[in-house]
Amino acid sequence: MIVDIIAGTRPNFVKISAILRAFSVLQQSNLGWSFRLIHTGQHYDNNMSDSFFVQLGIQDPDLNLEVGSGTVAEQISKIMIGYEKVLSNSPSILCIVVGDVTSTMACAITAKNFNIPVAHVEGGIRSGDQSMPEEINRIVTDSITDWFFTTSETANNNLKSFGIKNDQIFFVGNTMVDTLLVNIKNFIQPAFFNEMSLQKDNYIVLTLHRPNNVDGLDNFILLLEAIAHSAKGMPIIFPAHPRTAKNLESIKRLPNNIILINPQPYLEFNWLVKHAKAVITDSGGISEEATMLNIPCLTIRDNTERPETVELGTNELVGSNPEALEQNLKIIFQSQWKKATVPELWDGNAGLRIIKILQKLLAP
Ligand code: UD1
Repeated sequence: MIVDIIAGTRPNFVKISAILRAFSVLQQSNLGWSFRLIHTGQHYDNNMSDSFFVQLGIQDPDLNLEVGSGTVAEQISKIMIGYEKVLSNSPSILCIVVGDVTSTMACAITAKNFNIPVAHVEGGIRSGDQSMPEEINRIVTDSITDWFFTTSETANNNLKSFGIKNDQIFFVGNTMVDTLLVNIKNFIQPAFFNEMSLQKDNYIVLTLHRPNNVDGLDNFILLLEAIAHSAKGMPIIFPAHPRTAKNLESIKRLPNNIILINPQPYLEFNWLVKHAKAVITDSGGISEEATMLNIPCLTIRDNTERPETVELGTNELVGSNPEALEQNLKIIFQSQWKKATVPELWDGNAGLRIIKILQKLLAP
């Protein structure tokens, strides 16, 4: 009995790592089914994919659909055609998708076309902002999901308000947090850190990849200048996502305090976050990790699908307003930032809960 688990992008690898680790712990209890790991190939190079498999001890994928780069529509269609071929040859009994990326939605639709039930890990979260492809992916995926594994009461309530029944919703916690807590002792200081004479607690980590922030060159330059100016000379370490790096090629000169580096492997990236003065990002997942590491986080967005990172955690939404950035960084520099409380069930056991629930759901 085969259960498909789908992963296509960086944040997916972090999430499935927790589920596969829990599976290997509970496998002895004779579950009667096993996983087939399908990599869609949405992220494909060493920095964005391979290093995650190595560092997080993820088994090699059973299949790789190798969809690579393209427009959203091209990626969706290639993933659906690829997964359809897989299911035609060898159907599974369940398709598990995680997060909100193109691969998540494309595989959920394909599985349902084969009448294969879908389980969505991180189901139910909503930003209300349909200008982001991730929100569309969440809405479409959740509209055809059979079982929801959720990270928060907010997600549970969202699902109930959409008419999802209680017995379809399983509040399990956060798989990204599981992976963070297991790996925290193994974080690695990147080699460039000492070479560039950087100091702990005296730099900012910046990540940006949302089309809204990085695709319009004029806006992107203004945003970078505003961030650099607000940091008052503090070094800003900027591991640039490929989309971002491509756009940066047209910018002749970056502000002096911005240090541009390649996307970092998981253990190096989270070492940088753990020792930073602050994180500035447009990623939802990084705002969760910053909350768990109790590092101040400023999110360059007007909304979030993860309100607990603001209400309980270290995150604050600053949009792309330079004044808000400056004011918030001032509070951080004065060491007056709010301290994080750990959201409910973000305790490192989400993966185990998921496998135990699947054990019951898939019992003959
Ligand atoms: C995707 C997800 C986003 C997630 C992010 C994490 C969607 C809609 N978005 O955005 O939710 O937060 O991943 O990183 O699925 N590229 C490379 N090498 C790679 C992968 C991508 O060069 O290994 C390039 C692609 O060619 C493309 C760009 O990066 O030009 C963007 O990649 P894409 O997969 O389209 O979406 P992301 O912006 O990474």
